[in-house]
Amino acid sequence: MFFMLKTTSIEELNRLSQAFTIQMNAIGIKTFSEGQSLVRAKSGLASIFNELIPGVKPSSGLRVIPNKTSHLRYLLPLHESKLMDKGIRFHDANSSEIFFNPFSNDIKNRNMLVTGLSGGGKSVFVNKLVHHLIGDHPTVILDKGGSFKKVTEYHGGSYLKSGFNPFQFKDPIYLREIILSIVDEDSFNKLERGRLLKVIKDNVDQCQSFHDLVTILKDHFKDIDLYFEEIKDYFTDDEMNFQSILYVDIEDYPKGIVTPLIIFILEYFKRIPVNEKILVFDECWSFLKDHTSFIDECFRAFRKTGAFPIAISQSLRDFSHLNSDLASSITNNSYFKIFFPQELEVTNDIASFDIANINTLEFKKGVFSECYLKTSDNRYRKTIRNYLSPIELQLFHTEAGADLKFNQFLNQFKDYFESHQEAVNAYVRLIHDEVNNSFYFSNQHQNYGEHFVHAR
Ligand SMILES: Nc1ncnc2c1ncn2[C@@H]1O[C@H](COP(=O)(O)OP(=O)(O)OP(=O)(O)O)[C@@H](O)[C@H]1O
Ligand SMILES: [Mg+2]
Repeated sequence: MFFMLKTTSIEELNRLSQAFTIQMNAIGIKTFSEGQSLVRAKSGLASIFNELIPGVKPSSGLRVIPNKTSHLRYLLPLHESKLMDKGIRFHDANSSEIFFNPFSNDIKNRNMLVTGLSGGGKSVFVNKLVHHLIGDHPTVILDKGGSFKKVTEYHGGSYLKSGFNPFQFKDPIYLREIILSIVDEDSFNKLERGRLLKVIKDNVDQCQSFHDLVTILKDHFKDIDLYFEEIKDYFTDDEMNFQSILYVDIEDYPKGIVTPLIIFILEYFKRIPVNEKILVFDECWSFLKDHTSFIDECFRAFRKTGAFPIAISQSLRDFSHLNSDLASSITNNSYFKIFFPQELEVTNDIASFDIANINTLEFKKGVFSECYLKTSDNRYRKTIRNYLSPIELQLFHTEAGADLKFNQFLNQFKDYFESHQEAVNAYVRLIHDEVNNSFYFSNQHQNYGEHFVHAR
């Protein structure tokens, strides 16, 4: 606590300071008078003000107590940390509270790219964004391996597990992309692609189903229907309504259907009649390497409409080995870049300053992870620490086999609860005695005296 004593003369100020100190001492409060000696009745006025500045060597001999920057840091608001005014609550590297709101009005491009080595916390971080935004924004999750399944179930999302109707959307460019994702790329050179587009445009209005379209295409492209033989059971004629949360795990589908499915989901997302919507795209890149221009077009469209697409990949480098055009399209279209620990080289986009920050990221499994946020205009460059509350750790963790008890509990007792969400909360309360305290695990660890580890 700071007190500033003001009077009109030095004598009066000294008297007042002395009286104030005695009064404080009497009630057990020790005072520290910066810039003056009460004993020698020297006041901390302009003549010694310079000496209060950290790094300035005292020369006047008036100071009894050496100038300490640790005192001054309480006078200046240096301990405050800021990212945005409000939003999802995270912490900085000193555990001070910071907030992140990708839907802030002054952010025009919301595309986000999250990269980092396996196990660094990418999916957990994105789970947290989704968990806190999903109530207000329609969300589509394209998952690989179930990292977002629990959060989807918790929020009552729809799980697309079986087939889909590619003919739900009649845009010829999209329909051509679906067909190209199934046929042999080599047999459709530029000219053939143009011809394919024309046939689709000329006939799409007469067709009632995707099957009708393929039948017409057969007249123009010999035996093209045979490409569809193996996967046709996945195509339905039912139209899917827009869902507030749609979840797809590509591992539920055979390889041959995954690319058309992703293209369908991207088109579905584009058409959700709300601008501020969320798309999670976790590690599905290998299926899209032959569809660069379509993906580029999608991510450009998302950027313009104010959507918040989140692309996740293990490393920028792996990604560009797969298809450098696709990688640069996603990278260039991303305003927010989130880096988890990884090897990086200085490029136009990433300075040595950023790399130095990324190299000091810490990770304490089960307690917090850290990532580095950088925007393409360098408006934000900040280390973000992600503490999880018990409920968040339960929903977001991706440890194989660690949910045995959790699933047993749900199977046995879910009928006693009004909702799935309540059953999950009850389980977490039983295990941890806490549900929403984000410092819960850090306190536990302090008790056990564990050490911080570097993720590098
Ligand atoms: N913020 C965090 N607090 C506590 N534990 C965390 C945190 N982030 C990650 N973990 C732990 O690390 C594990 C791996 O994290 P995560 O699945 O997010 O990694 P990833 O970067 O997505 O890896 P991959 O590339 O293999 O998908 C989680 O299951 C969880 O146990
Ligand atoms: Mg992951």
